[in-house]
Amino acid sequence: MWWKQITAAAVLGLAALATSFQNPIIPGFNPDPTITRAGKDYFLATSTFEYFPGAPIYHSRDLIDWKLIGHALNRPSQLNIRGTAPSGGMFAPTLRYHEKSKTFYLLTTVFDVIAPPDNNTNVMPRSFYVKTKNIWDEKAWSDPVYFDMHGFDPDLFIDDDGKAYLTTTFGAGEFVKDPGYFSVFITQVDLKTGDSLTDAKLLHVSTLPLDTPRLAEASHIFKKDGYYYLLTAEGGTELGHRAMIKRAKSLDGPWEENPSNPILHNGRDKSAPIQATGHADFIQTPKGDWYTVFLAIRPQAPANASGIPQLGRETFLAPMTWEKGQWPVINGGEVVDLDVKGVLYDLKKPKVWRDEFDGKLADKAYYTPRTPYKQAVFLNERKGYARIKGNVYTLGQRETPACLFRKQTELETVFSTELEFNPKNKKHEAGATIFLSLHFHDNIAVTVNPDTNKPSIVARTRSGKNADLKEVWEALPAGYSGPVRLFIKAERHQYSLGYALQTKTGGGKKGKEEWAQPKYLASVESKWLQAWLDGWQNFVGSFFGIYATGNGLPIREPADFKYIQTERLD
Ligand SMILES: *[C@@H]1O[C@H](CO)[C@@H](O)[C@H](O)[C@H]1NC(C)=O
Ligand SMILES: *[C@@H]1O[C@H](CO)[C@@H](O)[C@H](O)[C@H]1NC(C)=O
Repeated sequence: MWWKQITAAAVLGLAALATSFQNPIIPGFNPDPTITRAGKDYFLATSTFEYFPGAPIYHSRDLIDWKLIGHALNRPSQLNIRGTAPSGGMFAPTLRYHEKSKTFYLLTTVFDVIAPPDNNTNVMPRSFYVKTKNIWDEKAWSDPVYFDMHGFDPDLFIDDDGKAYLTTTFGAGEFVKDPGYFSVFITQVDLKTGDSLTDAKLLHVSTLPLDTPRLAEASHIFKKDGYYYLLTAEGGTELGHRAMIKRAKSLDGPWEENPSNPILHNGRDKSAPIQATGHADFIQTPKGDWYTVFLAIRPQAPANASGIPQLGRETFLAPMTWEKGQWPVINGGEVVDLDVKGVLYDLKKPKVWRDEFDGKLADKAYYTPRTPYKQAVFLNERKGYARIKGNVYTLGQRETPACLFRKQTELETVFSTELEFNPKNKKHEAGATIFLSLHFHDNIAVTVNPDTNKPSIVARTRSGKNADLKEVWEALPAGYSGPVRLFIKAERHQYSLGYALQTKTGGGKKGKEEWAQPKYLASVESKWLQAWLDGWQNFVGSFFGIYATGNGLPIREPADFKYIQTERLD
């Protein structure tokens, strides 16, 4: 096998020489990245909105290879979201490591009461923090400690003298004439109790022209060489999104705006394949180099500002320098590309990812909409299967259905699973889904057709501005009792739903099971996996998932899934 070793060594050698990396660094629905470092270890958290558990914590040693190590909000005492609207729930965190106390803080805000459909019932929530001294054990995160000042996108800055400052964003209408709207406020806080120690003070109003969305959000304060820097995201989270910075010698000002603002704004070039860049955070390597992480989108069909951001807002990286006179310059002042040359390295990702459900889940990257009432997925009841016990709720309700979701992280891929399920009536249903929200999700499932009373496959897609439902039914062959494979093929322009049946079982002496080719029953344009109903909103990205439901009644028939897999199409 010497030739293989030589090949591997040559490949590694080339990888080491070819310094360039690929964006996004954390693909799939991972908006609002925030990053911190403890020694050689980088940790990064993102937003999860109405999904549970909340606030994934990713770890890396090199800013490129990120592994999910857990979630800061992983039990109901930290995050109890029930009936939360799509794109309500857990908003933009800040993650900070405080060297002196060896403590990690994660600050965030949970929007539980949010329009729609209850127009005008929006109440600005108070942010909170959870903390831990052992970030490797997700159970070690504390329960929430609430702040007094309300507002979202909370930031924690602990000064050299130990004083801690909270900044958040909320409407500044009462405080200044012509303030645009959301602006950044600051208060000194007692970190033990979250109590404010000073009155809330208006810190920053967007300086963008009045005809730009004048939100100033995603504040982070940094201190460097005697200056306090206030980094913000402005211009709204869509194509106008950008990062801006100002500085002062004291947190009381006077503040000086960076003459080169914005420091990050791909929206300058509407032909760029990355758009809506903003919500940044800064990090310094142990060697002293600087980088910024930020959210952005990869529009598809076409791959420029006219396209739809198929996977929602993802996490990107760019190098950063501090020029003479001490303003940060991101990516040499250029628009950030998918392929960033000259730094770090290119991480090759395997074509096939698979979870065999061998007594435990392959990793922690699994979610459900909202907080589960109780366990729905069992890995030890039947060896080699994930058994899902359905509940009364469907994927279309503002509740917690019985399911196991994973973020879609590749644009072109086939998600598949193998299901054993014996529906006894038309309410019994189990299958696979590509899921954005309770309004827009598409399923391929096994159930009983109410018209024929026969066990059948159903493909359900939703499209159009009212998320209109289309169904395609196909009866299982009479007497077929084998497992069913379900497929969701994701492409840049559409998703297709299919199934396959076993043609020969694996039993007997020389048995090797055989399967028919997948048969695709329905497809739906990709844009409907980034859609929202009029008056609602969408801040999330799509998930592949498996689920079971009793469609309004309890169900005792278990749904046994043998594996889930994704296989990239390239
Ligand atoms: C909320 O606002 C939308 C759009 O303005 C309107 O169509 C809808 O009827 C309102 N809903 C309620 C409950 O007032
Ligand atoms: C985006 O791509 C489409 C299709 O290739 C093209 O017609 C359009 O001009 C592009 N827009 C920009 C701003 O580059």
